[in-house]
Amino acid sequence: MILRDLIERKRDGGRLSADEWHFVAHVAADRSAPDYQLAALLMAIYFRGLDDAETRALTRAMLGSGRTLARPAGAGAWIDKHSTGGVGDKTSLVLAPLLAACGVTVPMMSGRGLGHTGGTLDKLESIPGFRTGLSLEEAQRQLATLGCALIGQTGEIAPADRTLYALRDATATVECIPLIAASIMSKKLAEGLTGLVLDVKRGSGAFLPELERGLALARTMVDIGHGAGVEVVALVTAMDRPLGQACGNALELRECLDVLHGAGPADLWTVTEALAIEMLRLARPSLDVPTARAELGAAITSGAALARFRTIVAAQGGDVRVLDDPARLPTAPVLGDLVAPRDGIVTGIAPRPVGHAIIALGGGRTRAEDAVDPAVGVVFRVRVGDTVRAGEPLAVIHARTHDALADARARLQAAITIDEALVAPPLPWVTHRITTAGVAAL
Ligand code: URA
Repeated sequence: MILRDLIERKRDGGRLSADEWHFVAHVAADRSAPDYQLAALLMAIYFRGLDDAETRALTRAMLGSGRTLARPAGAGAWIDKHSTGGVGDKTSLVLAPLLAACGVTVPMMSGRGLGHTGGTLDKLESIPGFRTGLSLEEAQRQLATLGCALIGQTGEIAPADRTLYALRDATATVECIPLIAASIMSKKLAEGLTGLVLDVKRGSGAFLPELERGLALARTMVDIGHGAGVEVVALVTAMDRPLGQACGNALELRECLDVLHGAGPADLWTVTEALAIEMLRLARPSLDVPTARAELGAAITSGAALARFRTIVAAQGGDVRVLDDPARLPTAPVLGDLVAPRDGIVTGIAPRPVGHAIIALGGGRTRAEDAVDPAVGVVFRVRVGDTVRAGEPLAVIHARTHDALADARARLQAAITIDEALVAPPLPWVTHRITTAGVAAL
């Protein structure tokens, strides 16, 4: 096959066959195609789109370019959750041990923070010693014994996506629904799942802020999963403000430990519980919602979810003492309050500027190779809708230096709006459920 011919056909609005997508994934994975040709094809896809069959074929081809986790014959349900990303979005850290404690196998393959959004791997690595770089064989063994492994995407998983994603990033072709869906699903299908729950964020801090685009992405991924024999359920959740109160790696881990101890912010539990119910019901379809909710609640109150997290942390080399004594997590040397400049109502906490403040503190990255400081971040003391008085603390900033504290203070001041009245209420936390049957507003 001649790549130039495929580019030309896509450029002119034609379609490629499954064999041709297989060829594209192959030459992307082994790097035998020049970047300029792959980049040109990506731009043609960006403008011309892919039909459903092409999107499925590209997903299969990218999946087939690498290795996969093998679900043993006779194994029960293998369920994961994927989020399109946000600020303070830390539900994975609770969901994995919680579902494993309920008897569901959770092969959770997560990413690192990039841009304004955080990443589960960085949060986990704030536990001293915690190793996310397990080989597929190690992950497979841990799944058999503990029902959960918390790992990163190894170079062996969907290598075609690795090449294509880097080129999309460099050529402004990331925001293309079929390419996003094929990229995410090729990696998720490599986990050998029986079911997948998607957390599709909407609002100003989301990767795709508009509801309609989020729904289109969700529908595309549900269809890809269905075509591959994996049931996918998507929930649309709010990212018009940070989720929970803590933003920053160790601070978020601490907040998740609070949830596993039966405490933590109500909004974080609302979103976590909604996703957990979907995961549990994918594993056991006969379960009704109240029974699923009760089982999940019992796994928290009995300490079973926390105990499961302890065994996972120990198995992956982490210091389990942080679970009972979070003060052992990395801490920042300089703490300072951000105070309300005037009386009023908190009408907004914009997630993107908050994410950028975390990056400026050193807790996030702008390039994939940047290191992150696990200790820094911000813990909000107020929520959207709260009434505040001038001088009252809005947040506590955890910084490495006094200069970094001053910079974060200015950024966060600009992220928080205080007005006389709440003109528009914040988005409800969970608003839509998407399955093969269609979209249901909740
Ligand atoms: N995350 C991915 O893994 N791929 C995309 O294309 C976008 C977000």
